[in-house]
Amino acid sequence: MGKRKGYFGEYGGCFVPETLMPALEELEKAFYRAKIDKNFNEEFESLLKDYVGRPTPLYFAQRLTEHLGGAKIYLKREDLAHTGAHKINNALGQALLAKRLMKKQRIIAETGAGQHGVATATGAALVGLSCDIYMGTEDIRRQKLNVFRMNLLGANVISVDTGSKTLKDAINEALRDWTTNVRTTHYVLGTVFGPHPYPLLVRYFQSIIGREAKKQIIQKEGKLPHCLIACVGGGSNSIGLFSAFLKDNVKMIGVEAGGKGIQTGFHAARFAGGAKGIFQGCLSYVLEDEDGNILETHSVSAGLDYASVGPEHAYLRDTGRVIYTYATDEEALEAFELLSRLEGIIPALESAHALAEAIKIAPKMSKDSIIIVNLSGRGDKDVQEVARIKGISL
Ligand SMILES: Cc1ncc(COP(=O)(O)O)c(C=O)c1O
Repeated sequence: MGKRKGYFGEYGGCFVPETLMPALEELEKAFYRAKIDKNFNEEFESLLKDYVGRPTPLYFAQRLTEHLGGAKIYLKREDLAHTGAHKINNALGQALLAKRLMKKQRIIAETGAGQHGVATATGAALVGLSCDIYMGTEDIRRQKLNVFRMNLLGANVISVDTGSKTLKDAINEALRDWTTNVRTTHYVLGTVFGPHPYPLLVRYFQSIIGREAKKQIIQKEGKLPHCLIACVGGGSNSIGLFSAFLKDNVKMIGVEAGGKGIQTGFHAARFAGGAKGIFQGCLSYVLEDEDGNILETHSVSAGLDYASVGPEHAYLRDTGRVIYTYATDEEALEAFELLSRLEGIIPALESAHALAEAIKIAPKMSKDSIIIVNLSGRGDKDVQEVARIKGISL
C-alpha cells in the first residue's frame, strides 16, 4: 500500500460517481472496524473452519512431478473449499460485514465464471440477506450449471446483454444498481479490483490462502518454496497466495489469459497487451484502443476474461516483485486434461492457466526445488464447455 490512501504506487484510487462516495466511505469504516473487532473475526474464522472447510490441503502432486521430471509441484487445494473455489473466502467475509457491521438488507454481485456468484449467493443464504447477481449472457451460456446453483441458493440472476456480454458488462450493471440502492444494499465485489477500499478488503479476506500455504510447506518440506504460480483474472486468488510471501526470497508468477494468442487480439492479457488507464473505479492496466474505448476480451475461461486487473498487481509488476505471463486457451486445455489424467483432479479452466505455466517451467528446475500452484477452483463448472469445445455432446 502506498502513502496515498487507496493507492499502490501510482495505481488504485477511487474514481466513482459522487453518489457512491458515502457507500465507499461507510465500507472503508466497516472494514477497519472489522479488522480489530474480536467478535467479527472469531465468527469469520469459525465459519472458515467449519463451513468452508479450511485449512484447505497443500497436496504434493507426485505423478505430475514425475511426469514433468523437475521441480516438486504442490497444489494449494482451494478447489476443496465449500462451493468449489477460493471465491467463498471473500464472499463470506463481505456477507458477514454487510449483515453485522453495515446492517444491510440486500447484497448484489457480478460474476463471470459464476463461482463468485455462487459464493455470494451462499453467503447471502447463510446470513439471511436477499441477493441479486449480475451476469453477462455469454457467461450465462458458458456457465449454465452455476446459474442453476445460484437459483437453488435463493439468488436472482439478472442477465446482462450489453457489450461483450461478459464480466465487465456485469460489473457496470451492478455498479448502476448500487448507485440507486446504496442505503439498503452492499455490493460484494469479487476480486482485488475497483475503487478503494475493495482491493484492500478482498486481499484481507483472501490472505488466508498464503498464510496457510506458508505454514503447510514449512511443515512438509522444512523450507519455503522457490516459486509460487497463480492465475490472474481480477487478481484475488493470486494476491491471496502471494501476500504472505512478498517479503521472502520467493519467485512469484501471475498467469493471465493469452486466449488465441496476443497477436490475434483475442485475449485478456492486460500486461502483455494493455496500457495504463482508469476503468471501473481505479487506475490500473487496461485493454483499450487508441481512443480509450475498452476492448472486447477473449478467454476460454470466463473467470479470466476481463479487460483490467487489480491495481496492486500493476504495482507488483512495475516493481518487478511479481512476473506476469500468460497461457493460451490451448495450453490451458492441455493442462486441464493432464492434471485430470495424472492426479484425478479436474481443475477449473482458470487454474489450468497457472498449471500450464508450471508445466513449462518445472522441467527446467532442479528436483530439489519446490513450486506451489494455487488450484483456485475445481473444474465441474467447466466440464460441459470443454466437452463442447472437443465436439462431444453430453
Ligand atoms: C476458479 C477461479 N479461479 C480464478 C478466478 C479469477 O479470479 P481472481 O483473479 O480474482 O482470483 C475465478 C473467477 O471467477 C475463478 O472462478
